[in-house]
Amino acid sequence: MTRLAEIPQLPAVDHEEIFDVRISDRRFVGEDIVALTLRRDDGELFPAWEPGSHIDVFLGKDVNGDPLSRQYSLWGPVEDRTAWRIGVLKDPKSRGGSQRVHDQLLEGVVLQVRGARNHFQMEPAESYIFIAGGIGITPILPMVKQAERQGVPWKLYYLARNRERLALLEEISKLPAQHVILHCDDEQGMIDLAGITSTLGTSEHVYACGPGPLLDVLDTMSQESGRWTFHCERFAAATVAPGRTELPFEVLLAKSGTNHQIPAGVSCLKVLRESGVNVDWSCSEGVCGTCETEVLEGEPDHRDSVLTAEERAANETMMICVSRAHSPKIVLNL
Ligand code: FES
Repeated sequence: MTRLAEIPQLPAVDHEEIFDVRISDRRFVGEDIVALTLRRDDGELFPAWEPGSHIDVFLGKDVNGDPLSRQYSLWGPVEDRTAWRIGVLKDPKSRGGSQRVHDQLLEGVVLQVRGARNHFQMEPAESYIFIAGGIGITPILPMVKQAERQGVPWKLYYLARNRERLALLEEISKLPAQHVILHCDDEQGMIDLAGITSTLGTSEHVYACGPGPLLDVLDTMSQESGRWTFHCERFAAATVAPGRTELPFEVLLAKSGTNHQIPAGVSCLKVLRESGVNVDWSCSEGVCGTCETEVLEGEPDHRDSVLTAEERAANETMMICVSRAHSPKIVLNL
């Protein structure tokens, strides 16, 4: 048995189990895109999960000796609890995650995963438009299948730079072809997103996952139209608007009664961890939701890519790895 070397002590997260899993199948499903099938090493079933869920995959240590984890969406059949399936694009700008997956996660390797967690839930709708870019098909595919199972009208636009970058085509070929539009930029030019969304009404929900610029465009279109509802999942943190200030603020931890000063340019998570506070975290980029913390007082300056507009407005929680404060002081339920 090959075990992924140097797995450090993993951070525990409430209600989420850590599993030893073995890679039972590994195959390429697109250019630089590898699909892994993970099965529990103890032969038990995984917990149930919903479309949109992702898991933390632990890949050893980072350069600071901290656990290196990455988040990957589950794309297999939700009813199959014997396996979790993920897809990973080798990113030329990889900071160690996708490169390590491609280099080290071979068939038979045992590693640890945690989850599943869902910040990309499907809300009931009269119809769905799904828009996936490249590897962004992974969370979208189970959603499409769920819409089909439920008999809710749907359409899938699957976009990529070229045909080689379209992943999981074997799975997609099993969907009703009349609802699936494959679009390759090199053959057809840029897709007309304005045209696709121009006729959408208030009962329609658009779910998208893919590169940041694609999601930014759709987000803007949704806000400008004021009609259709937009949901997206990002692989990387949304870009902070230029000129956005980063002021120091104070954090009071309600349970322990300790005060912490968060300087400009340093995250609340980093300060708390270095002070020995036991906090849950994983991505440190505001995309996974692990560090979500209840806010008791103060006004967060939300900079994550997890919370919805409504959740941001409610100010009940914040992602302490990236979010800051508009108020001079913030009280957290820690
Ligand atoms: S650690 Fe992932 S959102 Fe904060």
